[in-house]
Amino acid sequence: MAKDPMRLVGEGVDLELPVLEGSVGPDVIDIRKLYAATGKFTFDPGFTSTASCESKITYIDGDKGELQYRGYPIEQLAKDSDYMEVCYLLLFGELPSKAEKKKFTDDITNHTMLHEQLHRFFSGFRRDAHPMAIMVGVVGALAAFYHDSTDINDPHQRMVASYRLIAKIPTIAAMTFKYSIGQPFVYPDNKLSYAGNFLNMMFSVPTEDYTVSPTLERAMDLIFILHADHEQNASTSTVRLAGSSGANPFACIAAGIACLWGPAHGGANEACLNMLEEIGTVDRIPEFVARAKDKADPFRLMGFGHRVYKNFDPRATVMRDTAHKVLAELGVDDPLFDVAMELEKIALEDEYFVSKKLYPNVDFYSGIILRAMGFPTSMFTVLFALARTSGWISQWKEMIEDPTQKIGRPRQLFTGTPQRDYVPIDKR
Ligand code: SDX
Repeated sequence: MAKDPMRLVGEGVDLELPVLEGSVGPDVIDIRKLYAATGKFTFDPGFTSTASCESKITYIDGDKGELQYRGYPIEQLAKDSDYMEVCYLLLFGELPSKAEKKKFTDDITNHTMLHEQLHRFFSGFRRDAHPMAIMVGVVGALAAFYHDSTDINDPHQRMVASYRLIAKIPTIAAMTFKYSIGQPFVYPDNKLSYAGNFLNMMFSVPTEDYTVSPTLERAMDLIFILHADHEQNASTSTVRLAGSSGANPFACIAAGIACLWGPAHGGANEACLNMLEEIGTVDRIPEFVARAKDKADPFRLMGFGHRVYKNFDPRATVMRDTAHKVLAELGVDDPLFDVAMELEKIALEDEYFVSKKLYPNVDFYSGIILRAMGFPTSMFTVLFALARTSGWISQWKEMIEDPTQKIGRPRQLFTGTPQRDYVPIDKR
């Protein structure tokens, strides 16, 4: 919806720029005509003030600490929904009917197996390879096995690829873990739920019976819901940019996984737990808080701060409550949980964090729960990538189906050396 335009006046320019209004959230100034009209670019390296696209999928209010998938608050989805339903919601925009949910769940369940030859792909990696390195490689390689769903112009193939990715990402994730510990891969079990099947592929062995714990199954499903989507974060923007060139969806998701790996993004859950282990005890917290505040020290409090949230990350709140429940139900007394809660308390009372509006984010408590559930730290970001695949592929689908979409190609402010003539080596 158009509103009164913004006027840009200066240096011989008197330009009216359209202002577009969303259904909620900040208006945007449409600058698509700016360069043609002024010969100037905008400059926003971290995209702190830039909307890269129009989307109907996820909305965040950073000041209020609100997150909604297709309009539904994350707290309600966390309480009353499940991950399969959330995947459907993100992909198609509405909660499914009973019949729609059953068909979607059955379709996903029946695509969980990987092409058998992919098992051999893993043997090319060192046993101590970081699981995220394997995830990037194997997911990118899916394009080599599923040629029949790489034509992005065919809606049916787009849907098949989307289902394949949501269905197979848990299988691949569990295989990265089994490979790293030298245990045999466990095939998917179609009798189990999405989360239950993943736990079975992660923790069962052929030599013993394994029963999925309802507590862990529910916690796992909840963690998947909380991590499913989050507007145009770095990895989602990577998926969109890769997809804008027409790259196949497997390559785009592999690009998203690569970006998520960074400690400033999805790698923060692994980095946060490592930080809590380094802190070790409550009495050492002040030392680390001081380091986080020291401009000369690159150390940052992992799991704190967010580009958008200048209030509590609502996912962190749900995660903290879940941590309490899971640790109690598992009878786990993890001293790091005490360190985390004390660190949160100290940081939230410290002027530096208060003035910069740095609050715990989704990664702050997730590591505590995942560790209690038996996941090694190196698998934490893999789980984030597993859950975010539904968000990434939904955003990719929205972009591909947008008739106005074009290849993303930012410009730059060039501050290098202007044109000069080549100097032969004997004259340098
Ligand atoms: C995720 O974008 C998403 O939606 C991401 C995500 C998703 O679901 O996709 O929510 C998932 O990535 C969560 C964030 C996980 N990362 C971390 O926990 C790593 C620690 N956090 C920081 O690296 C940082 O807060 C970021 C990267 C998350 C946000 O960085 P910004 O928005 O670029 O903010 P900034 O670096 O400009 O920081 C603003 C100020 C700076 O101080 P000044 O230069 O203004 O003096 O706050 C300081 C920073 O030094 N600061 C921190 C801090 N985070 C920011 N100081 C200490 N510890 C921190 N954690």
